[in-house]
Amino acid sequence: MDLALPCSSAPSPGRVLVLGGGYTGGRFAAALRLQGVSVCPTHRQPPATPDPLPWLRLDPAAGVYPTTADLAGTTHVLVTIPPDGAGRDPVLDQLGPLLRQLPVQWLGYLSTTGVYGDRGGAWVDETSPTVAGLGRSQARLRCEEGWRALGLPLQVFRLPAIYGPGRTPFDSLRNGTARLIHKSGQVFSRVHVDDIVGALLHCLVQPASERPPTVIVADTTPCPSSETLGYAAHLLGCKLPDVVPYDALGSELSPMARSFWSENRRASSRLLREELGYRLRYPTYREGYRACLP
Ligand SMILES: NC(=O)c1ccc[n+]([C@@H]2O[C@H](COP(=O)([O-])OP(=O)(O)OC[C@H]3O[C@@H](n4cnc5c(N)ncnc54)[C@H](OP(=O)(O)O)[C@@H]3O)[C@@H](O)[C@H]2O)c1
Repeated sequence: MDLALPCSSAPSPGRVLVLGGGYTGGRFAAALRLQGVSVCPTHRQPPATPDPLPWLRLDPAAGVYPTTADLAGTTHVLVTIPPDGAGRDPVLDQLGPLLRQLPVQWLGYLSTTGVYGDRGGAWVDETSPTVAGLGRSQARLRCEEGWRALGLPLQVFRLPAIYGPGRTPFDSLRNGTARLIHKSGQVFSRVHVDDIVGALLHCLVQPASERPPTVIVADTTPCPSSETLGYAAHLLGCKLPDVVPYDALGSELSPMARSFWSENRRASSRLLREELGYRLRYPTYREGYRACLP
């Protein structure tokens, strides 16, 4: 992964805390470590494969939180932890006061473009009003507001569907579980995980006064999922499943999957690319999927 911290007049990170070292948080932590930056991700439980590198246990359900001593010297924080089942931020109340005592120069919060609600396929950007329709997106907006209210230098990154190594349609095509669903006019936006990491590194070294409070990180090509599935099948040289009209799926689709299909919008990353000067590594799913081939 060639994700380097850009040159900048802003001070380099001293110690980075990654609240939620999952898929995106883990790759962000790995990229920083390659740069020689001290970084500490959190997990609820010890990773299945023991991690020789430092990490912290953070398990709100079990009442386990890092202490002030654990967090000493933290200069940059990334939050990847989503709202819990009750729609509350699982860590803000407990960790917010601790973070306010630290010399935090940048606090990144990973959110979702779901906060813009259903737009009938229209483009949204950072100036679009947030009209979250789904309960989980309304919860997300409340979490964004909660983190903003801490008064730390917060940047919210709103993300569409995340894909990358291990998160492509390749496995479902290979094992025959892929569904080729058609819903007229429906598109999805997406982003490669390494472009999230690249955009975070790009933004965190910018001077605080030049950082927009909210940034959408998305590729340039929202499109139907049938298009991306078709391209994935082409790359694998395998057959596509038969097309199923969305309306014929009935209860075959889980409530979560149905909620994704209930909203239709195109997320614009023009601010990130044209005003902040970030160059996407994977401007479309085509380069992104090719890079994910084993
Ligand atoms: N996946 C998508 O397509 C997508 C799209 C838009 C926005 N997002 C949002 O972007 C963020 C990053 O996504 P991701 O796919 O990288 O997430 P992920 O792989 O699921 O990682 C989430 C991390 O948060 C931690 N976590 C989750 N619930 C927690 C809780 N109640 N208490 C403490 N820690 C908790 C997990 O801990 P463990 O390490 O212990 O599991 C994990 O480290 C999330 O907020 C997600 O909702 C995702």
